[in-house]
Amino acid sequence: MRTQVAIIGAGPAGLLLSHLLAQGGVSSVVLETRSEEYVAARIRAGILEHSSVELLASVGLGSRLRAEGDEHRGIYLQWPGERHHLDFVDLAGRSVWVYGQTEVQKDLIAARRADDQEIHYEVSDVSLHDLADSPYVTYTDKDGQSQRLDAAFVAGCDGSFGPSRASIPSPKVHEKVYPYSWFGILADVAPSTDELIYAWHPDGFALHSMRSATVSRLYLQVPNGTDPQSWSDDRIWDELATRLGHGQNGWKLNPGPITDKSVLPMRSYVQTPMRHGNLFLAGDAAHIVPPTGAKGLNLAIADVALLSKALIAQVKEKNPTLADAYSDDAQRRVWRCTHFSWWMTTMLHTSGDPFDAELQLSQLRWVAGSRAGATGLAENYAGLPLGY
Ligand code: FAD
Ligand code: PHB
Repeated sequence: MRTQVAIIGAGPAGLLLSHLLAQGGVSSVVLETRSEEYVAARIRAGILEHSSVELLASVGLGSRLRAEGDEHRGIYLQWPGERHHLDFVDLAGRSVWVYGQTEVQKDLIAARRADDQEIHYEVSDVSLHDLADSPYVTYTDKDGQSQRLDAAFVAGCDGSFGPSRASIPSPKVHEKVYPYSWFGILADVAPSTDELIYAWHPDGFALHSMRSATVSRLYLQVPNGTDPQSWSDDRIWDELATRLGHGQNGWKLNPGPITDKSVLPMRSYVQTPMRHGNLFLAGDAAHIVPPTGAKGLNLAIADVALLSKALIAQVKEKNPTLADAYSDDAQRRVWRCTHFSWWMTTMLHTSGDPFDAELQLSQLRWVAGSRAGATGLAENYAGLPLGY
């Protein structure tokens, strides 16, 4: 088999890249270890920043998002006794959208299918070869047959566990592991809030998010290694009620049936460069952020917006300028989002140290009380323009 770009991974980065390449007249083949059903059902991120929505809409992926997604002007930031609304539209001129990654993934799968995109699901033994010269990828297809895919370029969109990142020789790796995790639940109950609540609490951080008018998504800070099955539903709702301020100023948290429980460890990870010869990394394959800034999915989208342009210029015009600049260009935004995600995480999660707690509360009061502080958060959360 031969194609112009071999894409490893059918997550949001891989499928959006194949979509953008197709629009620019560049062919690709996508390889994915999981099944299509598994990829479409994975519960992950929930917030699209302004530029992600604009990009998706500009390439024909915005109609269900606009019809079924929910536009939010901002978020609530709170600590015991106080809740403040930060209006991003007022502060930074940009909104965000609540639209689950599962829905983005379904839209991408439908669009690629409508275009007859070749996607091979349930492959194994994916291995990258001769990346400096004439790249090819070998793998075992779902019927157990060995296959070889030759390509001018390989895009490593295979997340943090795929083989692409390890194919870059002697990378520089920056990593920070946080001493806490998120316990996430999905519940069949109407959200108790119109916009997301990010709550600092002495017992630990809590977040009230949502997926629709009837489905809520909530998170609790828990120690690393927590077993989600060891918490009863009552204990989860009690803890959420305490940390989110049930009863304060008449606000109530509505509990409901929990349909999913998972624990997500938190880390920051950046690998550079994002290119080796004809291999380019995008999304979680190159970087991971803790979810407190809602940046992981948005960063994957921003990477492939840059990478698609670079590969189209290379393939169609033999112009290497954008490809040569890709790693440095992408890293500017990666480090901005890495800093923002670290800052939100360390401002909102308790460490048990009373000195840290006072600093966090002072920072929260400043962010919520000063237009300059609030604008900084709003600009970063609602997202910088593509190409930043
Ligand atoms: P992925 O979505 O990871 O896609 C990579 C794809 O590559 C996967 O489909 C994988 O199966 C495939 N793959 C792996 N190995 C191979 C191989 N050898 N060959 C072929 N294919 C392979 N972000 C937030 O902002 N908020 C959240 O709440 C949030 N929750 C998350 C929960 C979890 C459990 C995880 C893992 C991530 C979460 N994220 C969250 C981050 C966000 O979902 C990611 O940043 C986003 O999915 C990145 O997209 P991607 O396409 O780069 O990677
Ligand atoms: C989510 O809805 O899953 C979500 C929202 C905001 C975040 C992280 C996750 O910061």
